[in-house]
Amino acid sequence: LASWRLATVTLNGTLDRVLVASGLSLGEICSVDTVITQAGGKGLNVARTARALGADVVATGLVAGQCGHWICACLNKAGIPNRFIHLAQGESRISTIIVDPVSEQITVINDLGPQVQADSWPELCRALVKTVKGYPWVALGGSSLPGLPDTVYAELCRDIQAQGQRVCLDTRGEWLHQALIAHTHPYLLKCNQFEAAQMLGRSIDTPDDARQAIRQWLDLGLDRIVVTLGSQGAVAAEQGQTCFVQAPQVKSLCPIGSGDAMMAGMIASLERGDPLSVATQFGVAVGAANTLALGPGHCDLGIISELISRTHIQSP
Ligand SMILES: Nc1ncnc2c1ncn2[C@@H]1O[C@H](COP(=O)(O)OP(=O)(O)OP(=O)(O)O)[C@@H](O)[C@H]1O
Ligand SMILES: [Mg+2]
Repeated sequence: LASWRLATVTLNGTLDRVLVASGLSLGEICSVDTVITQAGGKGLNVARTARALGADVVATGLVAGQCGHWICACLNKAGIPNRFIHLAQGESRISTIIVDPVSEQITVINDLGPQVQADSWPELCRALVKTVKGYPWVALGGSSLPGLPDTVYAELCRDIQAQGQRVCLDTRGEWLHQALIAHTHPYLLKCNQFEAAQMLGRSIDTPDDARQAIRQWLDLGLDRIVVTLGSQGAVAAEQGQTCFVQAPQVKSLCPIGSGDAMMAGMIASLERGDPLSVATQFGVAVGAANTLALGPGHCDLGIISELISRTHIQSP
């Protein structure tokens, strides 16, 4: 795989603890079969998959406290180059992901992240924008920290694209809304069906629902949009051309981070010069591969071509 360059920004750097707990029952003691401890948060999941796909990555963002040091130690151990800003106060959050293979249920418990003073944002923003400078692709996304303004991603997108870089954004709620109404739009916007539904105030269950959502956003002036539909696949649009890529049927173990793995796959494909439809097909396959491994952002790349062969691009 040819080398390509990507920076990722994770405002809410997280320590993920993935526990496999068979037959978990609330209110009872349960021993775990397997534990994975790794750095998490959307940007870090994207970085993990992108590195496996041959990217020269740098992961930046915000961390705090002892947990912040633990997150960076995990990144160093995994060989993911990182340049995080350590906040003076608070503790980065731990996210506990409990996979129960018996009930096939997955439970996620998120700690609170560190509280930040809103007036520290302009300086943090400048530092992050400077850190990612020189990387043609920048993936932004996930949640932000309590205390920061809702415009964090809109501002990062504006300032990073002003440096001539391409921003790929994956966020939700008010952070997404602010990015949608901002003057500078990301090169690629990606969200899942629930995030799109929350934004538009109606449910998005089918590829047609996703197409309608995308049309509404194209009218705001966005260039490239992808709405993912979990095991169904994803709908994408570029220059008014929409397509649906049906996902291959797999026996999903843990789908958490599939959107992030997909983002890494899509950027790898766009970097090769592929059109958005082909990038979406590749991303769908990488997202499906992520469901087969335990930790978010882990994919067995050996099965990607077989997964791709089981997808197809449908243009209306
Ligand atoms: N159960 C599944 N079977 C096959 N493919 C899947 C499955 N779940 C996810 N995928 C693939 O991964 C892509 C992204 O998944 P999904 O829509 O769940 O993203 P997401 O909710 O943003 O995930 P996350 O935010 O946890 O990273 C889908 O478009 C699909 O191609
Ligand atoms: Mg997602």
